[in-house]
Amino acid sequence: MELTQHDFPDLTHLPPDFVWGVATSSFQIEGASSPHERGESIWDAFCRRPGAILDSSDGLRACEHVERLEQDLDLIASLGVSAYRFSIAWPRVQPNGDGVVNPRGLDFYQRLVDGLLERGIEPYPTLYHWDLPLSLQYRYGGWYGRETVTRFADYADLIAARLGDRVPTITTINEPWVIAMLGHEHGVFAPGLKSRELALQAAHNLLVAHGLAAQAIRARCSAKAGIVLNMSPIHPLTDAPADIAKARLDDGQINRWYMDALRKGHYPADVLEHFGSDAPIVLGDDFELITQPLDFIGVNYYTRNFASTGDPWSATQSGAEVTDMGWEIYPAGLTELLVRLNRDWVCPPIFVTENGAAFVDKRVDGAVIDRERVEYLATHIAAVDEAARQGVPMAGYFVWSLMDNFEWSSGYLRRFGIVYTDYETLERTPKASAHWYTRLLERQRKGQTQPRSPNTR
Ligand code: GCO
Repeated sequence: MELTQHDFPDLTHLPPDFVWGVATSSFQIEGASSPHERGESIWDAFCRRPGAILDSSDGLRACEHVERLEQDLDLIASLGVSAYRFSIAWPRVQPNGDGVVNPRGLDFYQRLVDGLLERGIEPYPTLYHWDLPLSLQYRYGGWYGRETVTRFADYADLIAARLGDRVPTITTINEPWVIAMLGHEHGVFAPGLKSRELALQAAHNLLVAHGLAAQAIRARCSAKAGIVLNMSPIHPLTDAPADIAKARLDDGQINRWYMDALRKGHYPADVLEHFGSDAPIVLGDDFELITQPLDFIGVNYYTRNFASTGDPWSATQSGAEVTDMGWEIYPAGLTELLVRLNRDWVCPPIFVTENGAAFVDKRVDGAVIDRERVEYLATHIAAVDEAARQGVPMAGYFVWSLMDNFEWSSGYLRRFGIVYTDYETLERTPKASAHWYTRLLERQRKGQTQPRSPNTR
């Protein structure tokens, strides 16, 4: 794919130390080909549930990232990124979620971190990206059980002690809303429960776990501590009062529930009223723990959401451009979200920890020309630059994802990578978007952000 000047956004407001990266997560890429490698997670169990995964696949092979670590480290370095966001599989470190530590598991993450540092790439680990040790689900009810919170704090301490002196940041939890609501109310993600009461207790416990983990990180090392939230602007599908009210409530559940708790030490009153007796049990010092200082916030953005008294999750404006996930392509929503977050909650440095898109990628003659993804990334990165122009403390951007991988309940049917994964051979092939991203980072480094001449697009 021929790249020209106007394939690149004019980025003139990002700070000089802005971090450029790519992101993955443990369950989605690592694999677990031999049973002794790691303990089972709730996603291993969920994948065995008939109909749970669109292509009936699982994460046992995934991208065989563990076996292919050195090759993948070289691949990451070849992109020219300054950072790599990954997650640590708790069951690989503690197969049962507590007690016995698996030395091979810790050793793998040590090699991963050291391999990145040797290549001049900053490691951005996440402690928890959904793969809860199955034993904790059985013994304590997983995230709706308070005991799991304590186990997580111990696990955070273990990782901070081992890796905390080598990494600039440690993210405690990735997307508490998805974990709690998709996993415990809607049942479409692991552990596949359908109870709003349990979901809300899980949502609360996850925030307490975040607070305890942040404390453990700070007690052990100098790494900065933060959390990653999936958030979106919520727009009423129509200007009907019912849709407007629904948008306010959905915003309350997805955005304000977490930001008010983390930044103001309480849940939004309108949402608590809506939840009624399903509201979570809050113990005495919980909000003291939840409002631990945040060194950064990670924002995962893909699209805006519409609220309607019909089905809110599939609503898009008719005729809107959508990705292979059916998500509307709406870069303006990223600026809107970032500006709002900083306006309403005065944020610490913000990383866009995930942004990317699934498209139907075809490899032809060894190449994948994913022009749609180039356009998606260029417009969304420009949206981040615009947020910075409006005074939002933007600190970095991570493309989701480094490579095509296990897309949860969609299995391997949705490709988000800037690198194509051949699921027969597991061969990795950088797509045109990978080459584009590399060129963008080169331009940024050289300060080549010449404004477009008036006659270009
Ligand atoms: C997340 C994720 C990733 C997904 C990506 C695309 O952190 O939100 O769910 O693991 O693969 O968001 O859905």
